[in-house]
Order: sequence, then C-alpha cells, then structure tokens
Amino acid sequence: MLPERTARASIRWRFTVWVSVVMIASIGVTFAIVLSETTSRLRTQIDRDLKGETSQLAQSFDLLSAGPPAALASAARRYVTAQPLRSIGTVLFVIVPGQGLVSNRPELFGARRPDDGENSKQQVAENELATRLARPRLGFSTQTLADAGSVRMLERPVTVGGMRVTVGAGEPLGSVTRARHGVIQSFLLAGLFVVLAVVIGSYLVGTRVTAPLRRMARIAARVDAGDLEPRMDVPESRHDEIGVLATAFNRMLERLEEGFRSQRAFIADASHELRTPLTVIQGQLEVLALNPDPEAAEVRRVERLVAAEINRMRRLVDDLLLLAQAERMDFLAVDVIEVRRFLTQLWDGATLTADRRFELGEVPDGQLRADPDRLAQAVRNLINNAVNHTRLGDGTVRLEALEATPGELVIAISDDGPGIGPGELERIFERFHRSGYSRAAAIGGSGLGLAIVRAIIEAHGGTATASNGGLRGGARFELHLPGFRREAPGSANRDPGRSASVTN
Ligand SMILES: Nc1ncnc2c1ncn2[C@@H]1O[C@H](COP(=O)(O)OP(=O)(O)O)[C@@H](O)[C@H]1O
Ligand SMILES: [Mg+2]
Repeated sequence: MLPERTARASIRWRFTVWVSVVMIASIGVTFAIVLSETTSRLRTQIDRDLKGETSQLAQSFDLLSAGPPAALASAARRYVTAQPLRSIGTVLFVIVPGQGLVSNRPELFGARRPDDGENSKQQVAENELATRLARPRLGFSTQTLADAGSVRMLERPVTVGGMRVTVGAGEPLGSVTRARHGVIQSFLLAGLFVVLAVVIGSYLVGTRVTAPLRRMARIAARVDAGDLEPRMDVPESRHDEIGVLATAFNRMLERLEEGFRSQRAFIADASHELRTPLTVIQGQLEVLALNPDPEAAEVRRVERLVAAEINRMRRLVDDLLLLAQAERMDFLAVDVIEVRRFLTQLWDGATLTADRRFELGEVPDGQLRADPDRLAQAVRNLINNAVNHTRLGDGTVRLEALEATPGELVIAISDDGPGIGPGELERIFERFHRSGYSRAAAIGGSGLGLAIVRAIIEAHGGTATASNGGLRGGARFELHLPGFRREAPGSANRDPGRSASVTN
C-alpha cells in the first residue's frame, strides 16, 4: 500500500491540476481577446454606419431651399420618417433652432403621448431628458435614451439658407451587448466542456504514465519487507525513460539479491572454516581429559596441535578482517615506492624458506604510488600459491615487472605447476574458492588468498588477472597497477637488472 500522503500529492493529481490551470488560463486569455475584439469591431462598424447616415442626412438638407424654421422642421419630419431603406433600429433626428427636435422615433426622446400610462415622476424625468437632448452636441456621444438603453450618437451641423441646423443619427448599443453576451455564453459553455475533458483526460494520462512508478513503489515496499523475488516486467519494445528506469531497478534488485546471497554464503563458509579447527582443538582436549595422568610427551603433542590450529584460526580471522577493511575508504596508506628496491627485498624475503628454483626477471626502475604493506602482502600471497603448486626442489617460480602502457606497472608471477582448470580462471578469485585439486592435495589455506590479492589491487585502482601463460603451461598471475612513473634511463643510481636463478 502507498502511504496516504503520497496518494494525495500523487504525480497524476499534480499533473491534472497543472494541465487544468494552464488550460483555464489560456481559455481566459483567449476569451478576453475575443471579447474585446468583437466589441471594438462592432463599435467601429456602428460608428462607420453613423457617419454614413449623418452625411446622407446632411446631403439631403443641402438640397432644401431656405424657408421659415417651421417649414424646415416639417420638411425634416417628412424626411426622417420616410426612410424605408434604414434599418429599424436606427434613430434619425434633426434639431431646428426654435422648433425643437424632430425624429423618426420621437418616443425615445421623451415625446410621448400622455395616455401612455406613466406617472408624473417618470414624466418629469422624460421632460428633463427631452430638454437635454434638444441641445445639439456635435460629434460622437453615447446617451441613455428612454426605451432603447444606451445609444451611440453622431451629430453634425448643416447650414440651410443661413440657418444652422443639427442633423444626427443614433444606433442602440443593444446589438453590442447581445454580441458580448453571446461570446461570454459560448466561452462559458465551451470552456466548461474543455476543462472537464482536460481534467478527465490528464487524470487518465497521468494514471497511465505513473502506473509503472506505482508498481515499482509496491515492489520496493516488498523488497523493503525482505522479499527479494519480485521484478518489474519490462517489455522488449520499451526504450523510454520508464523502460530504462525499470531495467536499472531490476538490475539493482539483482545485485542486491546477489549481494545478500554471497554475504550469506560468506558467513556460512567463514563459520565452517572456523569450526574445523575448533573441533580439532575440542577433540584433542577431550582425549587429554580422559587420561587422569597424561605423559609429558602427550601433553606437548596436544599443545603443538592446538597451537597449530589456533594459528590457522588467527590467519583466517586476519584474512577476514582484511577483506572487511578493504571496503573502507582508508584501507590504503599510499606512499611512493621505489619499485626495484621494493620488489628485490620482497623477493629475497619470500624466497628464503622454500626449496624451489626462484627466478627474478626484468624489473623497471621507477616509482609507484601504492601502499607498500598491502602490495607486499598481495605479491607474497601469489608467491606462496606458486610455491604450493610447484614441485619441491626443481619447481620454478618467476617474478618480473614491466611498464605495459605508460604509467601502468605490471607485476607478474609465473610458475611451472599444473596451471588452473579452464572453468576456474575467474572463480579462483572468489572468497573461499579452492580447486578440487588443492583440496585433495591439502595445499594452500582456506581460499581467501586470491580474494585478498584482488581486493588489494582493486583498492589501488588496478586489476588482478590469472592465466595459464606461465612456464610450461603453468599459472601466471598479473597485477596491473596505475600510478607508475618510470625513471629516465641513465638517471640516478641504476643497478643492472638482476636476472638470476637461485636454488635455496
Ligand atoms: N599458482 C597456482 N597454480 C595453480 N592453481 C592455483 C595457483 N594459485 C592459486 N590457484 C588456485 O586458486 C585457488 C585459490 O587460491 P587462494 O585464494 O590463494 O586459496 P588457497 O591458496 O587457500 O587455496 C587455489 O585453491 C588453487 O586451486
Ligand atoms: Mg593461497
């Protein structure tokens, strides 16, 4: 189960909210633009119409001959009322000085008949309006008329026979308001539908996209609870981020499982290796305890045996400790090593006690940045193995070193022993791995030697490899170490390469 907090703040909900917010914002902006554009277009159209109406009206007045204002007013009334081509809403009016306002829709200007059933208050207001409108206001204006609401008006002066007459036209703005309402309504309807569709759509998409993540979270929870079995199923065709993530996730689980498995095996092996000497010690002490008066020789025999087993255990524990330390950052105490001196001294010490033919081959002059104690231990482990796998007396063990690529020193230990089984070249570096041959011949230790060699060399950033390229098909181990600086030939105290065959 996902924790509740995660479910509430889940990606699909956040995704849905974000998409919806963006959608609503863009609909809002589009709405504002369409509304203002529609309004201004309609207003421009109305203004253009008004200009046309008034200039037509002015032209027809130009044709009239001069006369008394009353005659002019009645001519104007005839003219404005007889305009069959005008749209019904258009208001036409003429203001003749002294004669008031003449219009095709006089009721809009407050000139109603008394029987219209209005109260006196309304009549007072209408009279005020009529007086106000009867004064000419040249140019465009917007007025509120009795029944038509807001009306856009244009008035212009015309001179007829020396008299200044004002002609005007008006268009009710009702059409603009209706158009605006239409826009608002359609946007509300379409917007609601779109937002609803977007919310549902993005929730579904979000659910689909995040489904693998939720599966992964469930698997992680099961792993957390100790079950290492479950895996993500990744279709072959899936190459997107989710596919990459799922593959990496599976690989990580694989490694985790492998890690747990090898740790369990390691603990089992270590316990087994420790139990063997303990059993021997216990057995010997029991034998000794059975005899109430043991001879001094018997006591010494048991003591020797017990001491040997304790030594074996100490070596094992030391090896285990070293392997555990190898994973720590401060495992190495790196120093500058003079390679030639270091290897010859090490070689002299390690070859002193065994009866083999020891050969020291080429060793380059130069300095290596490495931990001298750890590196010496790795080389000694290899020499000991070579000694263990070669014949007493005439078996050959050889050490040489060379600069394989610039900056890389290779230390190689070869022998003329039986070599390593083909399937075992990699496995011999595993902890506690010993070949059947070594077990049968009871040579070597508990199988940690090469694991330690590899751990030390890898801590130096190098690699340790095994092959059967030794002498006469024997084993050859190579340690590749970075951080080597060759000494320029002729500089410093070069001591001629020692290549000798020593039999101890
Ligand atoms: N020089 C060698 N020649 C042949 N086999 C070797 C050689 N060195 C190591 N091996 C194989 O590698 C195995 C692991 O070696 P190692 O880790 O040192 O353990 P151990 O020496 O305790 O057996 C050995 O059991 C042996 O089978
Ligand atoms: Mg060994």
